[in-house]
Amino acid sequence: MTGNSIAEFLRNRRSVLATNLVEPGPDAETLDAIIEIGLRIPDHSRCGPWRIQIIGKEGQAKLGDFYAMLFAEENDDAPESQIEYWRQRPQVAPVLLAITCHPNQQKIHKIPLWEQVLSGGALCQNILNGVHAFGFAAQWLTEWPAYHPEVLKFLGHDPETEVYGFIFIGTAIEAPNERKRIGADEVVSQWPANT
Ligand SMILES: Cc1cc2nc3c(=O)[nH]c(=O)nc-3n(C[C@H](O)[C@H](O)[C@H](O)COP(=O)(O)O)c2cc1C
Repeated sequence: MTGNSIAEFLRNRRSVLATNLVEPGPDAETLDAIIEIGLRIPDHSRCGPWRIQIIGKEGQAKLGDFYAMLFAEENDDAPESQIEYWRQRPQVAPVLLAITCHPNQQKIHKIPLWEQVLSGGALCQNILNGVHAFGFAAQWLTEWPAYHPEVLKFLGHDPETEVYGFIFIGTAIEAPNERKRIGADEVVSQWPANT
């Protein structure tokens, strides 16, 4: 079976490690278009249970200093190299997005949290597709900061807020190797089963 160029693109899309994402990142107009693509996702009853924060270089530096401070505070014996690693971590790529879950409480009796969360996963994936469609590359990460209430507060959220992910965006320094995929034979079956 062949397919058109969109099928080919979707078949081959791969994330690129955040540390392999360099300048240039998407400009403001391209980033807007990427986010517009991102938001074109199924969202049962128009709940809109997501918020997207664009974190440019200045914000990344502030966030990095905050990660470093937290990491040092919570890891007594942490070597300076690790503290520096976390200072640099949110700054490794040109653009960083923080995507958080903000369930629509007015509609939650009708659209359960599970469905609202699912659409946030779809949003992140559509952003990845949008990024790659414009010739850039990205990686979707959580890591400990996504689960740290102080990081959530620092970003201006309630400390209980769930993070869908941090998406790092830039230009890939090299094409990524292929990654072993879970095959359809491992997860797909016919129902009812052929007997
Ligand atoms: C919600 C979510 C969180 C993730 N967090 C991390 C993470 O913290 N660290 C990591 O190495 N990969 C993480 N990943 C995996 C990478 O985003 C990605 O799957 C991996 O780099 C391979 O990507 P690809 O299959 O798009 O090529 C996460 C994936 C998802 C869906």
